[in-house]
Amino acid sequence: MRICFIGDVVGNCGRRVVRDVLPGMRQSLDIDLVICNAENAAHGLGCSEKIITELGYAGCDIFTLGNHAFSNYDFIRQISSLDNVVRPSNVSSEWPGRDYCIVDRCGLRIGIINLMGQINVGISCDSPFDKSEALTVLLKDKEHCDSVIVDFHAETTSEKQALGYFLDGMATCVIGTHTHVQTSDDRILPNGTGYITDCGMTGAVDSVLGMDIETSLARLAYKMPRRYEPADGPGFMNGVLFDLDGNGRITSIKRFTEYE
Ligand SMILES: [Fe+2]
Ligand SMILES: [Fe+2]
Repeated sequence: MRICFIGDVVGNCGRRVVRDVLPGMRQSLDIDLVICNAENAAHGLGCSEKIITELGYAGCDIFTLGNHAFSNYDFIRQISSLDNVVRPSNVSSEWPGRDYCIVDRCGLRIGIINLMGQINVGISCDSPFDKSEALTVLLKDKEHCDSVIVDFHAETTSEKQALGYFLDGMATCVIGTHTHVQTSDDRILPNGTGYITDCGMTGAVDSVLGMDIETSLARLAYKMPRRYEPADGPGFMNGVLFDLDGNGRITSIKRFTEYE
């Protein structure tokens, strides 16, 4: 079974790239399941029910989020009715939405979870280590999942690598998101868990993490109060592809970059 994970889709440009690139890729590479991080899909910040439908038509099956899960406030009341969207689980129990999603495909039962890091992500949350362990055990023992896929939405490479080793042998694959720049450390860890520190973002190639260069410079170089705007222009889709055997164990993981 082949799974594609698509890194943070940013704004209109990112959604256009998914629509343009994913259907052909899904067919030519025999992809069975697509998981997509959609925390930046609505104008760079947040998500919406309409966007989940749009990206679903393009071939995305399951959606993960991050610190911008509810930056579009409308999504707070929309998320509960969407059974293919999983939000970070190590947050207040007041957050609406799901701690995990389960999908049955190709004879395997696959659980998907999403966690936020505790360092410099801007939202205070519980330990992603404790929560990911508890959910992995629950998904395997109580929900009878063959595989558990983790989207770890975190800022620091150290916290991401640490969670990768913490879950090595427990989770099937730990995929880093949030920093939007793809890292070249995709590999299978010693006890059999697939890992990448960050699978990258999907949006404009010439941008600052998918955001417009001019407004990013105004904020970062000149310290001017400007609102971030998503960039436009030729885009790319970044992510990872990985294969599972008949027992749900990962056999390969490879990062990809697909240009429009
Ligand atoms: Fe993001
Ligand atoms: Fe983020």
